[in-house]
Amino acid sequence: MARKVAILTGGGDCPGLNAVIRAATLKLTRAGYEMVGVRGGWRGLIENDYMPLDIQSISGILPRGGTILGTSRTNPMKTEGGVELLVDNLRQNEIWATIAIGGDDTLGVANQLNGKYALNMVGVPKTIDNDLSGTDYTFGFDTAVQIATENIDRLHTTAESHDRVIVVEIMGRHTGWITIMAGIAGGADVILIPEYDVSVEETCDIIRRRQSGNKSFSIVAVSEGAKLTTKEGEEQLVVQSDEVDAFGNVKLGGVANILAKEIKRRTGFETRATVLGHIQRGGTPTAHDRVLATRYGAKAAEMVQNEEFGLMAALQGDAIVAVPLEVAVGERKMVRQEFWDLAQTFFA
Ligand code: F6P
Repeated sequence: MARKVAILTGGGDCPGLNAVIRAATLKLTRAGYEMVGVRGGWRGLIENDYMPLDIQSISGILPRGGTILGTSRTNPMKTEGGVELLVDNLRQNEIWATIAIGGDDTLGVANQLNGKYALNMVGVPKTIDNDLSGTDYTFGFDTAVQIATENIDRLHTTAESHDRVIVVEIMGRHTGWITIMAGIAGGADVILIPEYDVSVEETCDIIRRRQSGNKSFSIVAVSEGAKLTTKEGEEQLVVQSDEVDAFGNVKLGGVANILAKEIKRRTGFETRATVLGHIQRGGTPTAHDRVLATRYGAKAAEMVQNEEFGLMAALQGDAIVAVPLEVAVGERKMVRQEFWDLAQTFFA
């Protein structure tokens, strides 16, 4: 009888998920495995919500954003009786191995299921935030950077026409990867990210220096997770709501509006705020992300075939390798000093 392999997508969606599903399904189906799609991330394994995956069902999905399987932020470890149900369901449905495509939350669960519950888990690193360790890049990140950069370019022309400061809020819950890359690529004049501190006063000073140097407009790129700090030592993480999800994450958002008001109040310059939000997660993946996601999917299939469990497909240099899941979810990958130094070179 063919061995059954489940595949699921968990956490926030991102462009490239379908490319992973396609590559893994194609390789494993051809190798004689039976593929099962799990709907809605870990929720589908708790509720026995599956869809068949075969060569036909993956046709045409490579360029499609989102995930044909659906996703959720369900945490079986925090759901009453969740893990027990999930373990029972996997056994009863004779699912031999699971490919979990996700970020630190989803892969943290996969790591525990593999270690504590002896389930065969393979991970694939997904998140626009690019904050997973063990891999140079997650797929979805390149697309998000591209979208954010295009939008900074657009904001530039309108900021310049109106002699305005525009503050653009970019996603990134704990790290500033998207903001720093898009900020450098889009020529932002000030960049604020969670990893390094630029106070509100310093931000205003940079804008004033630009204005006195005959630049009548400025673009400020700020990560949604950047804390607003002042020289007096005040610190503010701006949240949309204090409510936490099943993984303990608060809903971020709104920092650009507050910063824009502060810039206007302190400098007198006309200032606007733009929040890019989920636009950064939608739509078709870039060619780079399609290739990376395809390589990850093919590697995940190979790991299943070789019975290499408890590992995640990863990019190191230009090689696709396998790293322990616990390395991936152990320590968050923060923006390196060299990128920060480079970005600062262009602050006025
Ligand atoms: O983790 C990816 C991410 O897009 C973060 O950048 C952002 O903070 C969060 O997800 C938003 O989550 P949601 O889609 O649940 O609002």
